[in-house]
Amino acid sequence: MFKFAALLALVALVPSFASAQVQLYGQCGGVNWTGGTTCVSGATCTELNSYYYQCLPTASTSASTTSSTVPTSSTSASKTSTGTSSAPSSTATAAAGNPWTGYQTFLSPYYVAEVNAAVQNITDPTLATKAAKVANIPNFTWLDEVAKVPTLGTYLASADALATSSGNKQLLQIVIYDLPDRDCAAKASNGEFTIADDGQTKYFNYIDQIVAQIKAYPNVRVVAVIEPDSMGNLVTNMSVEKCANAATTYKACITYAIEQLATVGVYMYLDAGHAGWLGWPANLSPAAQLFGQMYTATGKSPFFRGLATNVANYNALTTTSPDPITSGDPNYDELLYIQALSPLLTQQGFPAQFIVDQGRSGQQNLRQAWGDWCNIKGAGFGIQPTTNTGSTLIDAIAWIKPGGECDGTSNSSSPRYDSTCSLSDALTPAPEAGTWFQAYFEDLVNYANPAL
Ligand SMILES: *[C@@H]1O[C@H](CO)[C@@H](O)[C@H](O)[C@H]1NC(C)=O
Ligand SMILES: *[C@@H]1O[C@H](CO)[C@@H](O)[C@H](O)[C@H]1NC(C)=O
Ligand SMILES: *[C@@H]1O[C@H](CO)[C@@H](O)[C@H](O)[C@H]1NC(C)=O
Ligand SMILES: *[C@@H]1O[C@H](CO)[C@@H](O)[C@H](O)[C@H]1NC(C)=O
Ligand SMILES: *[C@@H]1O[C@H](CO)[C@@H](O)[C@H](O)[C@H]1NC(C)=O
Repeated sequence: MFKFAALLALVALVPSFASAQVQLYGQCGGVNWTGGTTCVSGATCTELNSYYYQCLPTASTSASTTSSTVPTSSTSASKTSTGTSSAPSSTATAAAGNPWTGYQTFLSPYYVAEVNAAVQNITDPTLATKAAKVANIPNFTWLDEVAKVPTLGTYLASADALATSSGNKQLLQIVIYDLPDRDCAAKASNGEFTIADDGQTKYFNYIDQIVAQIKAYPNVRVVAVIEPDSMGNLVTNMSVEKCANAATTYKACITYAIEQLATVGVYMYLDAGHAGWLGWPANLSPAAQLFGQMYTATGKSPFFRGLATNVANYNALTTTSPDPITSGDPNYDELLYIQALSPLLTQQGFPAQFIVDQGRSGQQNLRQAWGDWCNIKGAGFGIQPTTNTGSTLIDAIAWIKPGGECDGTSNSSSPRYDSTCSLSDALTPAPEAGTWFQAYFEDLVNYANPAL
């Protein structure tokens, strides 16, 4: 009885909650949406797709259809994503050549805020001055959970406004990273979706929301890295049960992502591990076959520009003194790996270009084993982002992993604990994956090479 009364009281509260005004760029409708449906003054609730209605500035909604009736009930699921069976019609035309050419890279306000907060906490003025420079170096925004997708809309709007006010065309860098049963061979970066709980449908919905946001800002160019580690796991970790079980879903999800993002003109680089993973001679051919298969399956779109290597890793782009841990692998740096993989991709009909993460590659010879990936002690920021890469195969050197965000916790009681994060070459104590790790950031600044 008491419970029933409490329930009634809760129900009575719902209408006032539902009618609360939604902030600019907030979600205001879509299948199963239970939050507010009325936007603040100056914004209009706009259908981007049946899953996602967003409060957009009233003047900039021309590309979409404004709707006054917003589906909020669970019975309005008139459409479900069906992936490869819904052939996407490409509406965008790819520019030839390097997507960065002619564009200025937009700085993520989130990372800028993180860095600026971190700088406040640095007492050594020399270090603080160097650290502050990091806020002006573009990296990628990781859309590692669906809740972060609306933020993309705010960045796109800011980039669009900046392009208008500055006269410089803007390019926004994102990482698509939310596969169901994500990171099937590790624990630290386990995602929010599971295959068992309809993760594929949820992933398609995540992609639909991203596509809808990007579609509303056709003048902002978007470059995306697709799903770090997933393809590498399918090449080398099929003996891990979780990876074997995930293979079909990974491929279906990535195929859907590439096809849908191509329709709104996103330039994509699928993650290709790194020299110490797929660069081993025995792994090169199977990797090239898998990438070729993905390229063909997604219609050989010119927006599927190529592959991203060394994402969140520590390898050098080139080195004249190979790290002893690389012994036995003739492809002991990223350029050697790319030069070895490229002709095999060409044989598969995939003329892939590359981007290479150097965000934490400033110092070398730090690791006990090449497979160690977690908060490596002594790492420094590496070569700063540039399209002057020294190789015609490489479109850009980038900082893809936002330096200072933690790889994984060293707390062995945490459910996401991975023992790699408390090895002797990892900096401890480390907080949860994705959260700010101040001591690590300060080391990256301190050991940056070239110096900041
Ligand atoms: C909407 O809710 C219903 C009932 O809970 C559920 O079966 C359906 O999968 C949901 N749809 C989406 C797209 O989440
Ligand atoms: C900065 O220091 C304050 C006070 O010690 C602390 O609450 C905050 O979490 C620190 N921020 C970072 C980014 O470490
Ligand atoms: C990259 O990350 C740094 C801090 O880790 C941040 O200051 C910067 O704004 C980020 N850039 C982008 C484009 O996200
Ligand atoms: C995944 O494959 C890599 C490369 O062969 C290997 O080093 C790693 O131990 C594997 N992970 C698991 C959990 O088996
Ligand atoms: C370690 O994780 C456990 C479980 O999440 C938590 O209760 C504990 O406070 C954590 N310890 C530290 C030092 O953060």
